This record gives sequence, structure tokens and C-alpha cells, in this order.
Amino acid sequence: MPTLMDGKAVSAKVRQSVLLETERLRENGIVVGIAVIIVGENPASQIYVRNKHRACESCGIESFSYELPEETTEQELLELIEKLNYDDRVDGILVQLPLPKQIDEKKIILAIRTDKDVDAFHPENVGRIVSGDYRFLPCTPAGVMTILDEYGIDPEGKHAVVIGRSNIVGKPQALLLLHKNATVTVCHSKTADLAEITRRADILVSAVGKAKFVKANMVKPGAVVVDVGMNRDEKGKLCGDVDFDEVAPIAGFITPVPGGVGPMTIATLMQNTLTAAKLHKCK
Ligand code: GUN
Repeated sequence: MPTLMDGKAVSAKVRQSVLLETERLRENGIVVGIAVIIVGENPASQIYVRNKHRACESCGIESFSYELPEETTEQELLELIEKLNYDDRVDGILVQLPLPKQIDEKKIILAIRTDKDVDAFHPENVGRIVSGDYRFLPCTPAGVMTILDEYGIDPEGKHAVVIGRSNIVGKPQALLLLHKNATVTVCHSKTADLAEITRRADILVSAVGKAKFVKANMVKPGAVVVDVGMNRDEKGKLCGDVDFDEVAPIAGFITPVPGGVGPMTIATLMQNTLTAAKLHKCK
């Protein structure tokens, strides 16, 4: 059986190191803060946001919660962001996505001050990630890199295959692996002979959002399999993109769902918020 990569444990370790630093800052009168905004009542978003607030507590980060109704206008949200952009208690601003359809996500992302953009979604921060000159880490992909590092997996010279090309995960994941000198292939819904390509992966990262999509015939024996998916199976049970029962016996390393990548995303957000506070308050 493979080595199970325990995101919960690695996340706790990262959060502990953030806590040590926020405590040190607090002794010097510096409090780290984040504003978390949710619009509407998407149940998955509500869970994510609740977990973010909990993580802040465990890291000594003050979190300011804004729960806005579904019918909030774009203008109202822009006004709130503008206020938070100039609020010195707030080092990071996070607007939970997706947003209701009357609100243009791109406009909202552009309105967040780039030195408070702890999701690293603003085009300036995305550009910095492309060039390798970044302050804020893309949360989920960086969480994946942390977990690989923790288990002694060095991407250098390896063939890494990423399934999915979203702006939040697939694209930045490919870049971070490339920065670590992996040879990277990005696959997506239009890729021909997908299994033929994924079978050549030393490191396989799946971020497609389809329950149990990755089957045993798509995985090379001994491969490192990282599952970014967060789906429901036919019985409504939480599951990843990877058919764990099928794939685990042939993988070398594998992340479970839940308890794999999910907790790492939040741990990275905590790291980014600390980075933002240092930018603002430790000159
Ligand atoms: N929705 C799904 N993932 C994310 C994320 O990482 N950040 C935000 N803001 N919204 C999300």
C-alpha cells in the first residue's frame, strides 16, 4: 500500500509555525488581521469560510467576517472592498468565490489592493507567480507543494502531469511545479488519450472536479498521486477526483479526501496573511 500523505497533520504544522510568528508580532504590538467576505448562501462556500475563520483562530490571526445577502449589488461589494483596502486592521482581503451572477468576479478581484490579495488572484500577483517573483502563494497549488516537500518528494527532473487548467488550481500548479524543475504536462477536457499521458506521470495532480475520475489504468505504479478534487459521489459522500480504492494499491504516495489537500489550502492562506501583515507592519 502507498504512503498516505496527511494534509491535516502537515497543515497543523504550518499553522503552528504561523502562530509562533503572530505571537512574536503581538508582543511587539502588531496584530495580524484578515477580512473574509461571503455573498449569498452557497453551502460549500459557507463551510470553506467557517473553516477559514477557525484556522485564523488557531493561528492568532484576527478575522473580520462579512456575510452579505445573495442580492448584494456589485457596487455595494466594491464599496466594502474599498473601505477594507484602507482599514489598517485588515492585512488580507478574501472574497469567497463563486459570487452571485449579478457581480462580475473580475471587477471584484481587480478592486482588491494587490498587497492585501491573499488569494493571489489579482492579475499583478498572477503575473508575479508566472515570473517566479511572488509574495503571495496561490493557496491550493502551494499547499500541494508543501505537502510534497514534507514527504521528501522533489519534483526536479520528474514528469508532473496536472489534470485541469483552472486559474485557481491547474495553471498555477503547473507553474509551481515548473519552478521546481519538473517537466510539466497540463491535461484538460479536450486532451486526447488522457490515460496514455497520465500513465507517464511520476507526479499526478488531479484538479478536474469529477468524482472518482482518475482510475487505476491512468496511474503509473509507484506514482505520487495528489487529489485536489472535492466532490460528492452517487451516495452524496465527499470524495475526490481519484478513485481512491482503485488507485491506492498501485500508487507510491497518495492524498486522501478529505484530509489531504483541503487543509493545506487554508494553511497557505494563513501564511499569506502573515506575509501581508509583515509587508504592512514590519517596515
Ligand atoms: N472558492 C473556491 N476556492 C477558493 C479559494 O481558494 N479562494 C476563494 N476566495 N474562493 C474560492
